[in-house]
Amino acid sequence: MIPLLQIEQLRVSYGELEVIKGVNLDVAGGETFAVIGPNGAGKTTLFKAITGEAPASGGVVRFDGRDITRMPVHLRARAGFGRTFQVARVFQGLTALGNLISSVEARLRGAGVSCGPWYGWRPAPAVVDEAEHLLVDLALTQVRHVEARFLSHGDKKRLEIALVLAQQPQILMLDEPTAGMSHSDRLGIVDLMQRLRRDRGVTIVMTEHDMDVIFGLADRIMVLNYGEVIATGTPAEVRASPLVREVYLGKEMIDA
Ligand SMILES: Nc1ncnc2c1ncn2[C@@H]1O[C@H](COP(=O)(O)OP(=O)(O)OP(=O)(O)O)[C@@H](O)[C@H]1O
Ligand SMILES: [Mg+2]
Repeated sequence: MIPLLQIEQLRVSYGELEVIKGVNLDVAGGETFAVIGPNGAGKTTLFKAITGEAPASGGVVRFDGRDITRMPVHLRARAGFGRTFQVARVFQGLTALGNLISSVEARLRGAGVSCGPWYGWRPAPAVVDEAEHLLVDLALTQVRHVEARFLSHGDKKRLEIALVLAQQPQILMLDEPTAGMSHSDRLGIVDLMQRLRRDRGVTIVMTEHDMDVIFGLADRIMVLNYGEVIATGTPAEVRASPLVREVYLGKEMIDA
């Protein structure tokens, strides 16, 4: 079977500084794949190379068997990539519902589908329906009429994920989805991702510093250190790796 995402000998540099040094990985359809490693290991850069925001200086990125190494960002998004950012990006001046309506409409327009006429500046009922569904799925119904700039950090992050889901991506790329969240918001995200996987069969590639989140969600984990892969395997395999313990997981995981 062809992996949904396949990376071979990927290299990325910022000027003279090589940050990703020959990374290989395979992600199967439906899998939840986590990339972990110390600050500055290159996780976000690896994400950017996958989504096309950082050009690869070497190697190949394949999506669904197709070489996308030189494909521009917007075409990758259209090919099925959905990505969130370490710092949430939403339309600050729009309500949660308004944000979702725009995102659903953007997808429909991008696919050349008419969103229907606007009557009295109201979006088409089917678009509102879909947006409302996403609000329910992401536990945002309470804040549907709140402008994004007034949302709590956790709500904003869930809204950002909802916006990406509105694009119906084949693969969801989540860069530290629980960064800066309260413990209960974190549990909410874990629960949400388990549902996404179960109900929508979404393939997820994520980075995360919270080991409870990682070990609770990931089917497989890859550990990056200074731009190199030091381990890839199931959570149990990674946890058992002496090198990973030494470099990253340290004492807390040995005691866990
Ligand atoms: N735009 C940039 N220009 C130059 N160097 C950069 C740039 N972005 C990142 N770097 C450097 O590349 C290395 C990898 O950074 P990256 O952000 O990918 O790490 P990370 O694993 O995501 O870290 P964190 O856990 O802190 O999010 C770091 O040394 C960083 O300083
Ligand atoms: Mg990062």
